This record gives sequence, C-alpha cells and structure tokens, in this order.
Amino acid sequence: MIRTEGLSKTFDGGKKQPAIQAVKGLDLDIQQGEVFGFLGPNGAGKTTTVRMLCALIGPTAGRAWVNSYEVGQQNQQIRASVGILTEQPGMYDRLSAEKNLTIYAKLYGVKDVLGQVEKYLRMLGLWERRKDPAGSFSKGMKQKLAIARAILHEPATLFLDEPTAGLDPEAAKLVRDFIEDLETEGRTIFLCTHNLDEADRLCSKIGIFRQHLIKVDTPSRMKTAIFGRQVEFRLKQTDASLLDFVKRFDFVKQAALEDNRLILGLDDPEESNPLVVKALVQAGLAVQFVSEVRHSLEDVYLSLISDENDR
Ligand SMILES: Nc1ncnc2c1ncn2[C@@H]1O[C@H](COP(=O)(O)OP(=O)(O)O)[C@@H](O)[C@H]1O
Ligand SMILES: [Mg+2]
Repeated sequence: MIRTEGLSKTFDGGKKQPAIQAVKGLDLDIQQGEVFGFLGPNGAGKTTTVRMLCALIGPTAGRAWVNSYEVGQQNQQIRASVGILTEQPGMYDRLSAEKNLTIYAKLYGVKDVLGQVEKYLRMLGLWERRKDPAGSFSKGMKQKLAIARAILHEPATLFLDEPTAGLDPEAAKLVRDFIEDLETEGRTIFLCTHNLDEADRLCSKIGIFRQHLIKVDTPSRMKTAIFGRQVEFRLKQTDASLLDFVKRFDFVKQAALEDNRLILGLDDPEESNPLVVKALVQAGLAVQFVSEVRHSLEDVYLSLISDENDR
C-alpha cells in the first residue's frame, strides 16, 4: 500500500538558481494489490515522487506511508519492503544472467538465493540461457532481467519508473507481458509511464500528475467522466432527417451523423440500444453494425492536460 498526505519536494536551487518545486501537496491512496499508473509529462515530478516513496530522498513537506511504514521514520523497513526499477538500470553485461541475479539476491539478504534466482530465471524464460552473459540479451530481455532483479526479495510494493521507455515495440511488449505476469501475485505496482496505452492496459487505477494530482480514477471511469458513453450505429444509408428522428428519444443525450455512422451519447446503452435498433429498423433502415465508441486514454490525458494549461 501507498498513502501520502500533502507530500512535497522542493529542490534548493543554490545561490544562483531559483528553487524548483517538483512535487506539490500530493495526496495518494493506493491499496495493496493495485496496479497504479502514474502519468505525467517529462519533468512532472514522477521520479522525484518515486525516490521519496522508496526513502531515497526526503520530502520537504507532508507525510507518506509505504507498506504501512512511514517515510522518514522507518526508512530501513521501507527499503527492505520495496523494489525499484530506475530509469537507467545498469546490468553487469559481462556476467551471466544467473550471476547478475545472485549478486543482488545476496545484497538484499534473500534467504533462499538459489531458489529465488531459479524462480525468476524460469519466469523470464531464461533458465536455459542462465549462463549466457547479460550483455548478449536483447534490450527487452535485459529490461525484464532488471525488473526480476528488483523483485528478487519479494517486495510488497514494486516501483517501475518508465519500464518501456526507449524500447522498440517488440521489446516493450516483452516487458509489458512480464509486468502482467507480476500482477497476478498480489503485489502493489506503482508504474510511472507516459505511454498511455500501456497504462490503460496494465493499470487498475491511474493518476494524472504534474506537480500535483490532476485526476485519479480507473481508466474506464476517467473516459466515461469526460466523454460519456457513445454508441455507433452503422447504417447502409442515411439522411439528415435521421438526427431529428433519434432526438425524439429522451435517453439520447447527443446525436451526430458522420457519413453512414450515427453516433449517439447514451447513459445506459445496454437498455437503449435495442430500442434504437428497433426504431431504426421500423423506419426501414438497414443496421449493419452497433458498437460502443472506445476513447483512448490518450484522449482523456490530452483533454485534462490542456485544461491545466488553460488555468
Ligand atoms: N536532484 C535534483 N536537483 C534539482 N532539481 C531536480 C532534481 N531532481 C529533479 N529535479 C527537477 O524536478 C523536476 C521533476 O523532475 P522528475 O521528478 O525527474 O520528473 P519526471 O520523472 O516526471 O520526468 C524537474 O524540473 C527536474 O529538473
Ligand atoms: Mg522520470
């Protein structure tokens, strides 16, 4: 679990530079087992937040608890109960995958070093190649190895800071699939990313953040809150009178016609769709497809960030 109250960090700029307020009054409440996506542009303060939550740097104001331990009060316990993948995780390229993991397992004081290393090498699909140098692995495999290294001591909370940044699509997919495998183990995962599709796919809850939290919710509720639910009825042929025709229904919140596609805003599509289809068919129209309009998280993000810019 992760909880913060007014968590803030100001970097002292020294004599010549102005101070930089990287994080301003952050309030978060993330339950155990949740996969939380922390989204924000470059320089938003994501890495600074992660470093505070892992007790690597101290906050300048506010409080935070990670796995029930308080930041600043129980830093030892926090460090032992979190795993962190930093933005540039280095591997010992000349050492084998097995050796890389073994070194860290010992460093973390893992009890069953051999067992844990084997567990993760197998999970990575690297058991057969455990003796090969890490430097010979693909970028995606190296990143997975770095995540495995962060999790060897079975931390209750795992922080992943931009785990797929700079990876090609194939490597990024390898890493995402691996994160999905980790989700099944009931761990809390705090994922910093600006890859919105990734967040949409992996996260049960999303926080959109730039210095402060702009919005926090599930991906689907965020989309509905901003765009409502929309359904597309694709017809064989249409004419402009169709709009007036469907607006007679009081459950139709908005209606638009784009080529042969009638797009309706509906609060309760499960109830309304059959009525709309029936009316369309009775009016002699051929309904070819009915589908819900899917907004991407990118639409939501851009809309929220642009509202922020207007402030
Ligand atoms: N050690 C530091 N000293 C001074 N400024 C810093 C330091 N670390 C980060 N910053 C500044 O804090 C802001 C947030 O940075 P960061 O947390 O790295 O953002 P993000 O990870 O969201 O890209 C930036 O303006 C960055 O320049
Ligand atoms: Mg960062």
